[in-house]
This record gives sequence, structure tokens and C-alpha cells, in this order.
Amino acid sequence: MKFQAPKGTRDILPGESESWTELEASARDILARYGYREVRTPMFESTDLFVRSVGESTDIVRKELYTFEDKGGRSLTLRPEGTASLVRAYLEHSLGHGQPMARFAYVGPMFRYERPQAGRFRQFWQIGAELFGPGGPAADAEMIDLFVAIIRGAGVPDVTVLLNSLGDDVCRPAYRERIREYFTARADRLCGDCKERLRTNPLRILDCKIPGCQPVIEGAPSVLDTLCDPCREHFDGVQEALRALAIPVTIAPRLVRGLDYYTRTVFEVHAGSLGAQNAVGGGGRYDDLVEQFGGPKTPAIGFSIGTDRLLMAAGRAGPEGATAWRPDVCVLTRDPGALDRALAVARSLRGLDAGAPGSGAERRETSLQVIVDITGRSANAQMKWASRTGARHVVFVPPDADGYSIRDMEAGKDEVKQKTIESLRDFLRSRAAEGAPR
Ligand code: HAM
Repeated sequence: MKFQAPKGTRDILPGESESWTELEASARDILARYGYREVRTPMFESTDLFVRSVGESTDIVRKELYTFEDKGGRSLTLRPEGTASLVRAYLEHSLGHGQPMARFAYVGPMFRYERPQAGRFRQFWQIGAELFGPGGPAADAEMIDLFVAIIRGAGVPDVTVLLNSLGDDVCRPAYRERIREYFTARADRLCGDCKERLRTNPLRILDCKIPGCQPVIEGAPSVLDTLCDPCREHFDGVQEALRALAIPVTIAPRLVRGLDYYTRTVFEVHAGSLGAQNAVGGGGRYDDLVEQFGGPKTPAIGFSIGTDRLLMAAGRAGPEGATAWRPDVCVLTRDPGALDRALAVARSLRGLDAGAPGSGAERRETSLQVIVDITGRSANAQMKWASRTGARHVVFVPPDADGYSIRDMEAGKDEVKQKTIESLRDFLRSRAAEGAPR
């Protein structure tokens, strides 16, 4: 029987996995510099949590949830996004208690039963940030600034920030009514789903991706014409703050995003290089959600970046974007009886003997990546393998304590034998520090 990864999922293999690790490390570093601290929430939650936040009439809830019943008869759902879980955790642990503002980040996989295509998967990853407390435009500006910093940190050159406001409880009902009237008059040109949305949640029509619906959507009234004074002021304030930060934005009056919890500001970042699935990420304000979950009225705003798409936009996805990997050293033995010694020598070279500073404390410049041929085959076969790995140096470990022979594979020459493990390690470290690119 041959197994394959489930449809819409994939294995991230060596070569690509290094790019993922690097990009997530860069994002984590930037999030930390902005004071956003990581929360790791469960990968599944009670189904109700998502239904009540993301919204019953959204595509995510109607069509895309991975919902199952556990052996205790609970309805659980693999998380399709991170915001609902963060709000739950925020309230469950009183994370906002006595805090004028609270900043959180998350990095991890999300699950949506979508039709897979380039840049769209059933298991995908997000890097996200959420800010609870401040309701003013400065919070929105910090969020978008952080978003752009992460994208820049990943080396994505050309992105567009789309910005819109969805108004609030005061002005949105009037807009919803206008939209309902507009689409009702043109219902014959809408897809079946949109006809249904007309009844349940007409704003969702603006988010329809069916090509046939686009001409009608493009002519729809703009939400920006119906904003109440406080929402208009907030929207102007966000734009002003972004101008001060020199972040250009494109106003997108039909951007509603696919989740129901938003109030006021919504934004999305698009990268031209991505084609149809061109949203690298998106976010917005959700000033009512904490209250809806039983907490005190707490303005909040956040975003998520699709890690899969960020890598694509940075040209680092798939085999083309692969990171080359070469060990610093291959440790070989001519005598199978010396394999145990070879393992010990390799560990010393890595700087990981008992009592040595742990891998976290050791700097990259002094930590060697060392692999051992543990097959016990002929020296000739081992040398061929060592050469294929691209290692800069080969070290031969003798069966007794008779010094270590070293071969510089790049220069193709043997080096002076090193008598002790310490001198061998110093020699190899200084070679690595000379900056031979890996
Ligand atoms: P979202 O727009 O649903 O927002 O997802 C954010 C990003 O996740 C998308 O822009 C995209 O890059 C990526 N993404 C979504 N679905 C897929 C998929 N099937 N395959 C690959 N990538 C995908 C949210 O999830 C909100 N929680 C954002 C937010 C945070 N709003 C406030 N706080």
C-alpha cells in the first residue's frame, strides 16, 4: 500500500525547511522587537468558538471547517485561524487585567477545507499578531507598520497595502441596507451563493471570488460614503499616521475580508508576484469580539500573514528557493572498530560534550556542523560520500589516540595532523571563522 500526504497538505523537506525556519525566526525577532510575545494555543478548539467569532455565514464556517466529535462527544474544530483562540486565551487567563495594552503573537498551522491550488492549502501556516486595549488610530498604524516590517524582513520587494473601513454598529446597518438594495436589484447576475448571502449577510457578497459576480460587485456603493463621523475620523487618523510612517496605502472601498468580526479598519497586503492567491496576509480591528465572548468592552486589532505565501513572495518556496546545506566536517574512520570513537570526536567538534555550553549559548561562528559516516564501509566509499556532502573538511579518526588526519576538500590537500581533540577543534573552528561560505 502506498500512502500520500492528504490532499491540500504537503511535506516541507530539507532545503525548503531551512527557509521556513529562517523566515519564522526573522518574524519572531521582529515581533519581539515590537513587544509582541508568543502565545501557543491548542490546534483545536470547541467548534462554537469559531462559529461565533468568524461568523455563521462566512465561507470559512459554512464550508471549510475541519470539525469532528471526540470520544467524549464534544464537537471540536481544527483552528481555521488564530484570532478567536487568542481572544479566548486572553479572557481565560485574564491577560489584559490591569494592562492598558497587551500585545501577543502566534506562529503555527491553520486548517481550512478549501479547494487546493497554487498558494492555497488545507493545512497552511500563519504568523500573527493581536493587540488588545487601545482603540485609536495609532494602534492600527503600529499593526500595519509591524506587518510591513515582517514582510520586508522576509525580503519581499514589491507589496501593496490595501486599506478600508467597515464602520461600526452605528453606521454599518445603513450600509448593509444600501448594499442589500443594490444587489437585490441585480440578483439575476449573482451566483447561487451570493443570492443566499443576499438573505443572510449581504456584505459577504463583496468578498465573492466568482468571476461572474465581479462586474456587479465593482459597481456596488462604497462603504466609505456611509461612515459615521467617529468612524470617518478614525479612518482619516489611520491614514495620517501611516503617512507619518511613510507607508503608502491604497484605499480599497470594497475590501471586506472573509471574517465577520471586523469593525472599522480592515487591511490586506498583496504581492504582485503571487498571481491569483495574492494576499500575503490581512487583518483588521475587532472592537466587539472580546465583549461578545463575555469580557469587558475591549478594542482590539490584529493581522495574520500566510507563511506559505510569504515564502512564495520572497521567492523561497519549493526546490527553486532551496537553501543549500553543507556540513563543516565529515568524520570518517578506516576501521569499523573506531566508530564509537568517531561518534565521540564528532560530538566534541560540535562543542556538545557534557559540561560544554549548550547549543543555545554557543555562537554560530564557533559551532561546527559535523556528520559521521556510521556505515562501517570502505574508506574509499566514505570519501566519495564526504565529497558529495560538500563538507569543507574530512577528519579521519584512528582506532587509537594517534592524532587526527585532516583533508581540506576544497583545496584538495591534506593538512598537518592534529594531535589532540582540542587542537583539532580549534583548527576547524578557525577555518570556519575564516568565513568559507556554506
Ligand atoms: P485571513 O485573511 O483569513 O485572516 O488569513 C490571513 C492569511 O492567511 C491570508 O492572507 C493568506 O496569506 C493565509 N491563508 C488563508 N487561507 C489560506 C490557505 N487556504 N492556504 C494558504 N494560505 C492561506 C485571518 O486568518 C485573520 N485571523 C487575520 C486577523 C488577525 N485579523 C485580525 N487578527
